[in-house]
Amino acid sequence: MADQRRIMVAISGASGVCYAKRLLEVLPRMYDRIYLSASDNAINIVRRELDVSSLDQIISEEYKSKIMPISYTDLHAPPASGSHDYDGLVIIPCSMGMLGRIAGGVSDDLITRSADVCLKERRKLVLVARETPLSLIHLRNMAALTEAGATVLPAAPAFYGKPQKIDDLVDFIVDRVLRSLGLSLRLLKGWGNDS
Ligand SMILES: Cc1cc2nc3c(=O)[nH]c(=O)nc-3n(C[C@H](O)[C@H](O)[C@H](O)COP(=O)(O)O)c2cc1C
Repeated sequence: MADQRRIMVAISGASGVCYAKRLLEVLPRMYDRIYLSASDNAINIVRRELDVSSLDQIISEEYKSKIMPISYTDLHAPPASGSHDYDGLVIIPCSMGMLGRIAGGVSDDLITRSADVCLKERRKLVLVARETPLSLIHLRNMAALTEAGATVLPAAPAFYGKPQKIDDLVDFIVDRVLRSLGLSLRLLKGWGNDS
């Protein structure tokens, strides 16, 4: 439907797949359709870090009608085309390999192709980068992507809000993703926003 609001979420093979799980709990409040794709390496890490056997298990029953998993090898899927209307792509977490391929213009699977589409169509591309320390190659790739219009959002939560549990740290990053997408939905109040 023409007035549907759509976005894509992709998971790559970096640590921190809990961020993707949380984002998939909040985005359905704002979107009618969420395309979800994960690399093979990501699926292995989802199993390891979230103790589930399949990607499907990280999608809450309540939102299954809105979240559409798509194989990352499927280059015929809607987000692979610039003529398909969707707001953008969040890669969460984003491995340095994925970041490097996108920075290099490689577009040979659904995730890298959709990232390429978002850059060329000037749509939101948010890369929740996770690696430490960073090499000069990583930093140069991040600079190239920032110049091309992407938002590089390191998975580096702050501690000034006195987080009590891991969920608080996860919410810090997911809140930043929502802000980067320009959404009004907030998980945290924000510094100095009490009054
Ligand atoms: C358990 C595990 C954790 C990993 N964590 C990271 C990470 O945090 N950041 C990163 O850049 N690569 C990480 N890697 C390496 C990537 O998975 C690897 O470079 C892979 O080729 C990335 O594939 P993808 O970009 O196609 O998903 C990790 C690998 C494993 C097995």
